[in-house]
Amino acid sequence: MSKEAIKFERVSKTFPKAAKPSVNETSLVVPQGSFVTILGASGCGKTTLLKMVNRIIEPSSGTISVFGKDIRSTPVTELRQSIGYVIQQVGLFPHLTIEQNIATVPNILGWDRQKTAERIDYLMDLVHLPENYKKMYPRQLSGGQQQRVGIARAMAGDPAILLMDEPFGAIDAITRTKLQDDFKQIQRELGKTVLFVTHDVEEAMKLGDRMIVMNEGSIQQYDTPLAIMSGPSNDFVSRLIQSDDLFQRLHLMKAADHMIELPDGLVPDSVPRVGVDENLKAILQLLLQSNAPYVAVLDGDQGLAGRVTLEQLKLGNGR
Ligand SMILES: Nc1ncnc2c1ncn2[C@@H]1O[C@H](COP(=O)(O)OP(=O)(O)OP(=O)(O)O)[C@@H](O)[C@H]1O
Ligand SMILES: [Mg+2]
Repeated sequence: MSKEAIKFERVSKTFPKAAKPSVNETSLVVPQGSFVTILGASGCGKTTLLKMVNRIIEPSSGTISVFGKDIRSTPVTELRQSIGYVIQQVGLFPHLTIEQNIATVPNILGWDRQKTAERIDYLMDLVHLPENYKKMYPRQLSGGQQQRVGIARAMAGDPAILLMDEPFGAIDAITRTKLQDDFKQIQRELGKTVLFVTHDVEEAMKLGDRMIVMNEGSIQQYDTPLAIMSGPSNDFVSRLIQSDDLFQRLHLMKAADHMIELPDGLVPDSVPRVGVDENLKAILQLLLQSNAPYVAVLDGDQGLAGRVTLEQLKLGNGR
């Protein structure tokens, strides 16, 4: 039996003057070493749920325990040192260098210089940041690099638990994929327990061993991504998951396999051109961006070979 890293027992949070609770009678267990993602629309209570674990927000009722201990029985500062916290805006101290940022918790803990320096080297290597970044300031780094520093800083005190609130939300798709892959590997290697908020279905499914689907302050389903995909507990979950399923399928389909005949006459220059190997997800995005009714498919030196229309991509989608 794995240990319970985080446990919620009938936890509610109603903000002052709010008409209804932001988190409603929620019970859940996050096993030690697991990566749990929380998925839900904006305003459903994800951040509120997360912030109650390190007591940035106090519950209105119910009990939260960390490794079997009621979090109210530990001084707040001590609790927060034992739980890493990463947010979207990173929150690095702008006037401190990268190494000083990472050393925040070690300094609070009063580590000596040698131990702190070793920890910084270890962490920078872990999150794949080159050594020469140590003396730089956050503004000299890209968003993705800053987020790596944010992760390193959160892990500096070697916390068993990491809370992450849309940490990769503001980062471009390519950098984001790399960060996701790297972080998942770090999590596995070090056996950290992660509670990770996102509103991106793909991210929730890719990263989570288990996934919580939330709506209006309540957990709709809490299971493995595959189990949720194959057996959504209600219409809300089903709708949320299906839309992603479609995208996944589109991603795997190629223009060459789905193109139809070109219209008579010339194809206007305003129509985007794609190669036969382009996937339908990218094509859909292109169509939505360009506002064109179709894309023309180019077959190498053969020239225009066919087209894929917005209408085709809408079919089977049901929307
Ligand atoms: N400090 C606060 N005071 C009053 N109401 C709040 C406060 N924080 C959150 N709320 C309300 O609680 C509800 C849930 O907010 P929360 O920030 O948890 O949502 P979320 O799921 O994280 O959304 P998002 O995806 O947009 O970040 C919202 O209706 C919000 O307005
Ligand atoms: Mg939020």
